[in-house]
Amino acid sequence: MGTTETPPRRASPENPLRIAVLISGGGSGLLALLKYQSEEIRCHKTVLVLSDKEDAGGLEHGRNKGITTKAIPLPPIGDKKEQRSAHEELVQKELENSQVEFVVLSGYMRIFTPWFVRIWKGRMVNIHPSLLPHFPGAHPHRDVISSGVSTTGCTVHLVDEGVDTGPIIAQREVPVLTGDNEFSLQERVKNLEHELYPETIDKYCLGKITL
Ligand code: GAR
Repeated sequence: MGTTETPPRRASPENPLRIAVLISGGGSGLLALLKYQSEEIRCHKTVLVLSDKEDAGGLEHGRNKGITTKAIPLPPIGDKKEQRSAHEELVQKELENSQVEFVVLSGYMRIFTPWFVRIWKGRMVNIHPSLLPHFPGAHPHRDVISSGVSTTGCTVHLVDEGVDTGPIIAQREVPVLTGDNEFSLQERVKNLEHELYPETIDKYCLGKITL
């Protein structure tokens, strides 16, 4: 781990790490994490769900579990740069209000500024639906299919200032099948993500993953 990264506090079932999950869409990954956390006593618990989209379907998963759940859309002020900064300040305020210790990006489709990344470095993870460093960006499944590769997968990584860069914590592979389209591939990869992400968060919070 680099010197600028602060690892999460070593958590325990008696004193679980307080997690915020950030989403932008349907939240199937959020649902899988909540299920994992409710199956047995874990060293982490979700205390906050945030979305940048007011109509994100995944907000329901947080509300159904009685977790503090909020949409924080981009504020209608100034230019794009000012909007972005103001938005991140609002997000940071919510994280502080809920005493969040660890941030899980689960289908959150915004890129954070260096200001925000610096605050959370070592304590913010993302999952990306490809075998990074291959196929970063917004359309990995489409890019995988058009490239003709026979294997893809998903990657859990710490968030740094880049787009889908940052130290890799875990990866898992899945085959690309003849006749696959973006949708079928996305579903196969998501099923894998729903196992890998909760397990990896668990191991990382217990200090079982060293970089
Ligand atoms: C997931 O496949 C996740 O890996 C991807 O968005 C999907 C969210 O699905 N994230 C990214 O592409 C980030 N670059 P969900 O809303 O059903 O959890």
